[in-house]
Amino acid sequence: MTARRILTVFGTRPEAIKLFPLLHALEGDARFVSRVCVSAQHRDMLDQVLGIAGIAPDHDLDLMRPDQSLDALSAALLTGLGRVIDAERPDWVVVQGDTATAMAGALAAYYHKIPVAHVEAGLRSGDIHHPWPEEVNRKIIGTIAALHAAPTETAAEALRRENVAPATIHVTGNTVIDALHWIVAKSEAQPALVSGLAELEARFAGKRIIGLTSHRRESFGEGMRAIAQAVKRIAARPDVAVIFPVHLNPNVRAIMQAELAGLDNVALIEPLDYPHFARLLAISTLMLTDSGGVQEEAPALGKPVLVMRETTERPEGVAAGTAKLVGTDAERIVAETFRLLDDEAAYAAMARAHNPFGDGRAAGRIVELLAD
Ligand code: UD1
Ligand code: UDP
Repeated sequence: MTARRILTVFGTRPEAIKLFPLLHALEGDARFVSRVCVSAQHRDMLDQVLGIAGIAPDHDLDLMRPDQSLDALSAALLTGLGRVIDAERPDWVVVQGDTATAMAGALAAYYHKIPVAHVEAGLRSGDIHHPWPEEVNRKIIGTIAALHAAPTETAAEALRRENVAPATIHVTGNTVIDALHWIVAKSEAQPALVSGLAELEARFAGKRIIGLTSHRRESFGEGMRAIAQAVKRIAARPDVAVIFPVHLNPNVRAIMQAELAGLDNVALIEPLDYPHFARLLAISTLMLTDSGGVQEEAPALGKPVLVMRETTERPEGVAAGTAKLVGTDAERIVAETFRLLDDEAAYAAMARAHNPFGDGRAAGRIVELLAD
């Protein structure tokens, strides 16, 4: 039997994290020829993951531009990815999640009549403006894909409700849990991989650490300013320190630097590589975030997550009681954070390790689906 040609396309940090377990699994499997195309919609933040996971792309479109617009980025993606698909003639194009790269990868594959496999299929918030533009990106991919790897039964059900052919929907778990297990094991074997936080850990010894990330486009401006105001008030407590690896998007950095630089109990730091971010999760009392991936990782480590968004396409964490939607209102963020810090019972109810998003074996299941 001739080996199947799989072209995996991605461009940002979270896609790279969630696809490296699949790429590792494909690499050692004689049933496949695995080819990798990165759009480099992200540059530094993507390269951080490629380095640690040992992924060497076959194609690198190097598309990132400072403060890129969605339209210019999408146009460049479609043209560039179309050329790569033409050159590779794969049997499958694999995309992950809901970024501009994933959407354009699926659309380009469709234009070239190549079937698309969608990893992390079926997430829906039900609101095309929250998160923006991700909800529409994943609906476009859902319309095109011939294979839907849904992380959970809830996601599979969302696809069925949209009349996606049931035989093409498979519940596989989310590969982010595979990635997290891999990185934690690697860091345990090589402690030097996570030694970079030692200085901050010593500076904040005796304080409770809050890990924070924020980057959503729909929160630029007012939402980001409210998050910064909340951080200021939380960090005014002497028993707390906030560690905030700031996303490289200039719309995030400008506000956070202006509002938070120089505060005693706030560490504004550069984006952490994946081992160090997993370490931050481990040492944090709770996470404040608007990230998709962090909503999935934190419950796996038993860390309560306050989600600074109006909606979530990951209701499993909320249903299980380890995540709570708090929006981008400063008062509410502060009140919910203080509640977790001051009410032991409320904290204990949320700090429960469990894995609604997967068992760490999603990549193997997806490989078998691609082989079938
Ligand atoms: C993108 C995805 C979003 C995902 C997020 C993960 C889209 C439309 N958005 O949002 O779904 O949740 O990634 O982080 O696909 N930048 C750098 N260096 C980097 C990365 C970004 O300087 O390594 C700066 C650049 O100025 C770039 C800007 O950030 O133009 C925005 O990057 P972009 O990928 O368009 O959007 P994100 O907000 O990162
Ligand atoms: N992450 C990281 N370093 C950081 C912040 C996040 O490695 O400084 C990881 C995190 O563990 C998760 C992923 O990046 O797996 C989430 O990426 P992001 O929040 O940028 O995107 P989203 O998940 O919201 O699409």
